[in-house]
Amino acid sequence: MKRELGVCYYPEHWPEEIWAEDAARMAETGIAWVRIGEFAWSRMEPEPGAYDFDWLDRVIDTLGAAGLKVVLGTPTATPPRWMLTRHPDMLAVDAQGRARGFGSRRHYDFSHKGYREDCARIVTKLAERYGKTPHVAAWQTDNEYACHDTTLSYSPAALAGFREWLAQKYQSPQALNRAWGNVFWSMDYASFDEVGLPNLTVTEPNPAQVMDFRRFASDEVAAFNRVQTDILRRYTQAPLIHNYMGFETSFDHFAVGADLDVASWDSYPLGFLSARLVADEAHKGHFMRQGDPDLQAFHHDLYRAVGRGRWWVMEQQPGPVNWAPWNPAPLPGMARLWAWEAFAHGAEVVSYFRWRQAPFAQEQMHAGLLRPDSAPAPALAEAAQVAREIAELGEAAGCAPGDAAIVYDYESAWAWETQPQGRDFEYFRLVFAFYRGLRQLGFNIDILPPDAADLSAYKLVLVPGLATLSAPLESALASFKGVALIGPRSNAKTADFTIPVPLPPNLPGLDCTVARVESLPPKAGVPLAGGGSFLHWFEELEGSAEVLVRTDAGHPAVMAAGALRYLAGWPDAAAMLRLLSDAADAAGLAPEPLPEGLRRRDTTGHRVWVNYNLKPVRHDGREVAGCGVLIEPRAGAK
Ligand code: GAL
Repeated sequence: MKRELGVCYYPEHWPEEIWAEDAARMAETGIAWVRIGEFAWSRMEPEPGAYDFDWLDRVIDTLGAAGLKVVLGTPTATPPRWMLTRHPDMLAVDAQGRARGFGSRRHYDFSHKGYREDCARIVTKLAERYGKTPHVAAWQTDNEYACHDTTLSYSPAALAGFREWLAQKYQSPQALNRAWGNVFWSMDYASFDEVGLPNLTVTEPNPAQVMDFRRFASDEVAAFNRVQTDILRRYTQAPLIHNYMGFETSFDHFAVGADLDVASWDSYPLGFLSARLVADEAHKGHFMRQGDPDLQAFHHDLYRAVGRGRWWVMEQQPGPVNWAPWNPAPLPGMARLWAWEAFAHGAEVVSYFRWRQAPFAQEQMHAGLLRPDSAPAPALAEAAQVAREIAELGEAAGCAPGDAAIVYDYESAWAWETQPQGRDFEYFRLVFAFYRGLRQLGFNIDILPPDAADLSAYKLVLVPGLATLSAPLESALASFKGVALIGPRSNAKTADFTIPVPLPPNLPGLDCTVARVESLPPKAGVPLAGGGSFLHWFEELEGSAEVLVRTDAGHPAVMAAGALRYLAGWPDAAAMLRLLSDAADAAGLAPEPLPEGLRRRDTTGHRVWVNYNLKPVRHDGREVAGCGVLIEPRAGAK
């Protein structure tokens, strides 16, 4: 495996006279890949059916002549204005019933058949023209599915698609009524044509209907992507990639990933910290110019799973972004640290977004590797440094297998959004809290899909908040030889979104039943004997399984039998470290608590330390510079 750098480039934004110089500077910086094209539909097809690919031919030639490899993006995230004249009803509709407008991007409905056909047409044109072009060495489909809240649409096209999807799934309205529990509130349907979308209801819609709508919408994203991959496969052998977005749970990435060769994601550590991370102000303040020390790693591990081992960072933040509430500049060293952290987690390519800052339009305040005047921005030298270091280190064998694994499931995110029961019960946040705990204890982590059928590579497996255990996972757990920490709220719903009887968690060999659940307002907690508390959520457990940990009040907090441990709440940071250390000890792993902000990931040959703090950190006889990276050969590694 190689490690390479890339950059996102918009030749259509710049005069042709500077393309060759840009390409030469990219190559000089040590960049190997250039992603182009993903927003350029209006220049590829200025009028319906009138194509202009000459400029793109010249761009690809120019980049290729400089020794650069091209990732060609399909432009379907930005349909040109004429497309709306052709399909006035192609815009997605929000939950309030308002069509979204033209004038930015992602203004399309995944379910609109006419738009899908036009996408198939432009992708076919591109594939015919560039499918065998040697310089086009990878393809990206669309751009960031779901970004700007675009997965769900309450349009006539979505309604028609949803009804068809339901008819396929249930075959009869009676079966649908039974599955959804439509006897409740007289919601029975006599035909699929009576079923509506779950918006604009007087009070909350039936959660089973919402879940099916979420599944349908997720399937639509996968189907939309598959139209493109099916075409591209006919014309090219190059790997097909999509660039997913951080924090995005609205569609099943594993399902989309199944049609692609490589997963990639767009990593904006400072934007995410400011805009998306739920954390206290002290934490956000400490890491505001570095990013959260676990958030990038979480996504790296997730997308390695989505890509079945093959993954990239397609967009790497180089300087201040424009879209978060606050947009600080990264500290010197971070544009290098982020890249090395990605490589440590097995990234094949880290591609900075973007080459040159655009002085016009929406993202004019977004940094690039170059300033708008073409002078170097600070990240350019850091990218060049990474390129030199990659060359010095030589071929990479990939990241080491995880010590521990966490199961991650998109449907569970929808389940707990549909029925949170407590305002802050958010699936991503729950899983991320467990992930952070494992990282703080120094472990290498793998993320597993919800239908993981083989856990035998791991000593420790975590299954937090998994709404419905899949049959393969259930049988893998039944024969698991390590320690599995399951819960809270795991196996708490059937596939039809009802409470299962026997009551949850109903795990093989573990006599432990959730008798009652409660959600807790902020700052309220259930203290645990021995320190730490449960926050947000607590379950009263009964049964004869061994009680490993109790609450202060004497209720079971963790119950266990054999390999399985069930956890009755959402541990705070202190409880998390204690419970995970105990589980790791029992699993025969050696937890090594790391100082704040210092993290590590093993590759097959090296141990890569990253220090997210401004100041140097000493740990176990070594010092890692502030915002620094330390790459050590791994003892005993080949
Ligand atoms: C990403 C997107 C890019 C650009 C970037 C700005 O979400 O894919 O096109 O908008 O954000 O940070």
